[in-house]
Amino acid sequence: MISAYQDQVSRGQLTPDAAQAAVAAHLHGLSVALAGYAAGAKRGFFSRKPKAAPRGLYLWGDVGRGKTMLMDMFFAEVNVARKRRVHFHEFMLDVHARIHARRQLVAAADVIGPVAQGLAGEFSLLCLDEFQVHDITDAMILGRLFEALLNAGVVIVVTSNTPPQALYQDGLNRQLFVPFIGLIEAKFDVLCLNASADYRLGRVQARAVYLTPLGRAARAQMQALWADLTDGAEGVRLVLKLKGRELAVPRAAHGVAWFSFADLCEKAVGTADFRAVAERFSCVFVEGVPVLGPAKRNEARRFTLLVDTLYDRGIRLVLAAEKPAEQLKLAPRTLSRLQEMGSAGWWGGVGVKKIAET
Ligand SMILES: Nc1ncnc2c1ncn2[C@@H]1O[C@H](COP(=O)(O)OP(=O)(O)OP(=O)(O)O)[C@@H](O)[C@H]1O
Ligand SMILES: [Mg+2]
Repeated sequence: MISAYQDQVSRGQLTPDAAQAAVAAHLHGLSVALAGYAAGAKRGFFSRKPKAAPRGLYLWGDVGRGKTMLMDMFFAEVNVARKRRVHFHEFMLDVHARIHARRQLVAAADVIGPVAQGLAGEFSLLCLDEFQVHDITDAMILGRLFEALLNAGVVIVVTSNTPPQALYQDGLNRQLFVPFIGLIEAKFDVLCLNASADYRLGRVQARAVYLTPLGRAARAQMQALWADLTDGAEGVRLVLKLKGRELAVPRAAHGVAWFSFADLCEKAVGTADFRAVAERFSCVFVEGVPVLGPAKRNEARRFTLLVDTLYDRGIRLVLAAEKPAEQLKLAPRTLSRLQEMGSAGWWGGVGVKKIAET
């Protein structure tokens, strides 16, 4: 059993949960198997045979069950010299950048192999949080990429809300993606974390950072929150410089930014923009969130990405929306996260960045 998990349960900081305990035991087994492991270690003349790579883990389950918590405890415990823990979105941004750089350098047919080799030189254990496949460019390279990483001896652990068979469901050219699912099933232990509760919801306490309906009252409350958080500063327009483009922030002061929903979710903005926002600000206001029905699929996708990115960085979020969150037609995880991000614990909590000077 992962010792941090056992400790926190026995100290009463975590609710005992048999399904989590089973996953914690599995992860501990992996941690033992990995002790001292190095990818691609060569057998020296006198040394013992290097350790064989243990099987990776594909851990999936519903929102708020403790997947990320358990993976992070495992990551902290495991004794591997070179290990990396990264959000899946960020990992893929990095991979795409490396592929792009390599294409500039050589016109060789296989760029993914060398990129994977390069990555394997940097870490022997890769923990990816929130594995998901929606993007066709990701879908088309993941098979080759994972195969090359595994061949180079990298051990991979992922968390996901989706079982392997349902990844990239209804995606374009899905038949080209199917071998990746076979690879996961052949080379990874696939576990479902069927914990008994959405623990995130358990910690939620209402706080007036979710304002609805839109209108004068919501605006006034947002304005009052803004004043509290910025010591009454009016705020200035800022431009964040990103690789090759810019993102305008209509209003910024003391680490707090104010956007309209249209600024962030109705234009061609994406992960890199949201990351830049999360890096620069500790609190983000978004005004005018509409109900995200079928006609607003792209907006909904961007909004989900925005919430994921801010959630991952412990950023505080103030929203003014057309309807209560349960009626916005959000994905279940996005809703669960918004509820957690509205809790007093989130606002006062650890992991939330201190408000920086703008
Ligand atoms: N047994 C438990 N008792 C109390 N709190 C818990 C327990 N397990 C998890 N939590 C808390 O519940 C919250 C959600 O856990 P976590 O983020 O690990 O879920 P997740 O499965 O990764 O969710 P998602 O799929 O949305 O990413 C965390 O704040 C975590 O600390
Ligand atoms: Mg998670």
